[in-house]
Amino acid sequence: MEGRAGDHVHRDPLIDARTAIERCALLATCSEEPDRLTRPFATDAMRRAHGLVSGWMREAGMTVTRDNVGNLRGRLEGDGRATLLLGSHLDSVRDAGRYDGPLGIVVAIAAVQRLHDAGRHMPYGIEVIAFADEEGLRFGSTYLGSRAVAGSFDLADLERTDTAGVTMAEAIRAFGGDPDGIGEDRWRGGDLLGYCEVHIEQGPVLEAMGLPLGVVTAIAGQDRFVVSFTGEAGHAGTVPMNGRHDALVVAAMYVIAVEHEARTTPGLVATVGNIVVPGGAANVIPGRVDLTLDVRHPDDATRLQASQGLIGYAHALASDRGIAVDVRPVGENAAVSCAPRLRDLLARAVRDSDREVLEVASGAGHDGVVMSQLCDVGMLFVRCKGGVSHNPAESVEVDDVAAAIAALERFLELLA
Ligand code: HGY
Ligand code: MN
Ligand code: MN
Repeated sequence: MEGRAGDHVHRDPLIDARTAIERCALLATCSEEPDRLTRPFATDAMRRAHGLVSGWMREAGMTVTRDNVGNLRGRLEGDGRATLLLGSHLDSVRDAGRYDGPLGIVVAIAAVQRLHDAGRHMPYGIEVIAFADEEGLRFGSTYLGSRAVAGSFDLADLERTDTAGVTMAEAIRAFGGDPDGIGEDRWRGGDLLGYCEVHIEQGPVLEAMGLPLGVVTAIAGQDRFVVSFTGEAGHAGTVPMNGRHDALVVAAMYVIAVEHEARTTPGLVATVGNIVVPGGAANVIPGRVDLTLDVRHPDDATRLQASQGLIGYAHALASDRGIAVDVRPVGENAAVSCAPRLRDLLARAVRDSDREVLEVASGAGHDGVVMSQLCDVGMLFVRCKGGVSHNPAESVEVDDVAAAIAALERFLELLA
């Protein structure tokens, strides 16, 4: 790999790690809600986050563009034709932690900054992508940003509406993008060396093993559904108990059954994360309930079988209680294996940074699931306290972030 005088920047990665953590704190102020972190797709909070991230990308020597769907893309030219993609997502869940997504972006920028500061030109270009929507909070979608880059964006999604009735197309336009131009967001930059994402583990393994970093082997597959039970609304005071078709009672029975199925099937996780009684009121028997169902397993056949079983049970329960049920698939993503080539290079990079290598599977979904449609994918996990995530208590240690920056910088060298 070519280099110039001062090849390596001699700045302690701890300094960059402190900066990275400060930047995550700054990004945490970019929220749609005053007292907690909620940064949905194509919102003013996202616009403010773009202002911060684009400045940091430029400081690291990158040219910055924003594509139609709303991904922010920083590029550091190299001496070759191929490109390595780095990044993570910049959107969040509601009442989120500050590291799920942003840590991967600021660590990628830190590694590029170290190359830039040392005047090092890699024999490949590097593009850091801050993806627009991984969590799907605003439109119930998944992976909008990475789907646009991978060329698998479903144009029908543009008609989805948020809780205010705004369509995705209108939101993209208001954000400054062109919904009709999303096809142009797909990667057209030539050969790709791969996509590598640094992310908090969001699980307990690294902490239990006393290790700062993990090399990801595979990302679990996941199914998402909206299940709607429709009974009969009625007066809470006058309808006899044996004459009711209470949709919420059936939904509650269903939630218990979902948990039981997951507890009794090894490796399966299933979650009802949201349940809504549209127009519900204390003195009205719930006529309709909408709930979300999230089913995951490392093995696709087991996941699909579990999903089919849970859908079948929803129908059986509804028919038994004399109500209707509708099950709408929201998204299905097969399990994705990380590329052995990138796993090996990440493992070497971790070892070269004097840390022990541990390979871990990811129960959480990541943009790498979609980017695997485009190129090889690798992921590096960073220990997070108690494995807590999707929770404002999310936290990381500065030493672990320094380890991630050092390992990613080494990975960039090994890739050359
Ligand atoms: O749901 C997930 O696993 C990710 O946080 N979007
Ligand atoms: Mn998440
Ligand atoms: Mn995430």
